[in-house]
Amino acid sequence: MFNVEHIRQDFPILHRQVNGKPLVYLDNAATSQTPQAVIDAIVAYYSNYNANIHRGVHSLSQEATDAYEEARIKIQNHFNAKFSHEIIFTSGTTHGINLVANGFSSLLKKGDEIIVSALEHHSNIVPWQMLCERSGATLKVIPMNLEGELIMSEYHKLLSDHTKLVFVNHISNALGTINPIKYIIDEAHKVGAAVLIDGAQSCPHIKPDVQALDVDFYVTSAHKMCGPTGEGMLYGKEDWLNKLPPYQGGGEMIDQVTFEKTTYAGLPHKFEAGTPNICGGIAFGAAIDYMNGIGFDAIANYEHELLEYATAKLSEIEGLKIYGTSKQKTSVVSFNLEGIHPYDVGTILDKLGIAVRTGHHCAQPIMDFYKIPGTVRASFAFYNTKEEVDALVTGVKKAKMMLS
Ligand code: ALA
Repeated sequence: MFNVEHIRQDFPILHRQVNGKPLVYLDNAATSQTPQAVIDAIVAYYSNYNANIHRGVHSLSQEATDAYEEARIKIQNHFNAKFSHEIIFTSGTTHGINLVANGFSSLLKKGDEIIVSALEHHSNIVPWQMLCERSGATLKVIPMNLEGELIMSEYHKLLSDHTKLVFVNHISNALGTINPIKYIIDEAHKVGAAVLIDGAQSCPHIKPDVQALDVDFYVTSAHKMCGPTGEGMLYGKEDWLNKLPPYQGGGEMIDQVTFEKTTYAGLPHKFEAGTPNICGGIAFGAAIDYMNGIGFDAIANYEHELLEYATAKLSEIEGLKIYGTSKQKTSVVSFNLEGIHPYDVGTILDKLGIAVRTGHHCAQPIMDFYKIPGTVRASFAFYNTKEEVDALVTGVKKAKMMLS
């Protein structure tokens, strides 16, 4: 049974105070908190078997290699990838996107088209703009409506034989909209385009099945799903990963090196140059175990309750406008108080021990669409409570009173 009070015991940080008040942590879309099981995995690594991997015959190196490769298999199973070598460890979502964008430089030419969406994070806009500059391809954008949903009829108009790549996030970080990615993938495949899905915001809430989605690339970060920062994964279909050239050169990604010619290692090592974040990969595996222990159905149901409760309570505040009202949404509420800058609201909330994100959330085109400088964003995780939502609502009312 899902018991939030029990779950909260797993997170040491949730018991601290901020500015003399109990911490109310509602910035989970930026970084989730870390359960003791993941902290223990990190401590165990550095206390017992810290060593470089795939390189030494000594026991510590073997132990570290085994734990790292076991984590890869956990991630493979979690995302239902066909092969473990389709899982590339990265430093996070941004790294995964840049790896793919770089790889496509030599596969695109002038006249080719790339489609992104109006709901993207800067990390799923800028690398493709850079790719367009390098390759001569053109960037097209699926527009959004006022509810914060992508307009699928416009997506259809953009698709053609020129479309080579489509990049869309699974869930918008700024608004919480869940995009119809299966449909987007299937339609892209009809014109022969490859699809990359940015899963940074989906993986904390749902369990994507990359084979059922038939997605070509799927990227995510560990730190949004109870794991450490500086760690993430890129899933790529074997055929695509074989087609793409290496991203970085260095140790580990080679087969043979001479001054005349270097040949590259097979998957996944071809994309893993240099000493990786070994502890991060192992801790990512521990985070996946922890979240599966709670269960993604239970997480999604509970977070939906929190979302509905927070939306209803915040909507009662006069002059408060919520941005992103899609029917398909995760537990993100982005809002503004009329005539008050989001930064000022966030600063007062912080004084009350409440952590939210304020600003453009690395999604300036969304803010431009609504003609606002930014929003206050409360993003809930499965360890948040209705009492914390109440604290947020009281804090927002207080901020309104002080700033009006
Ligand atoms: N992309 C992260 C966020 O939405 C940092 O806050």
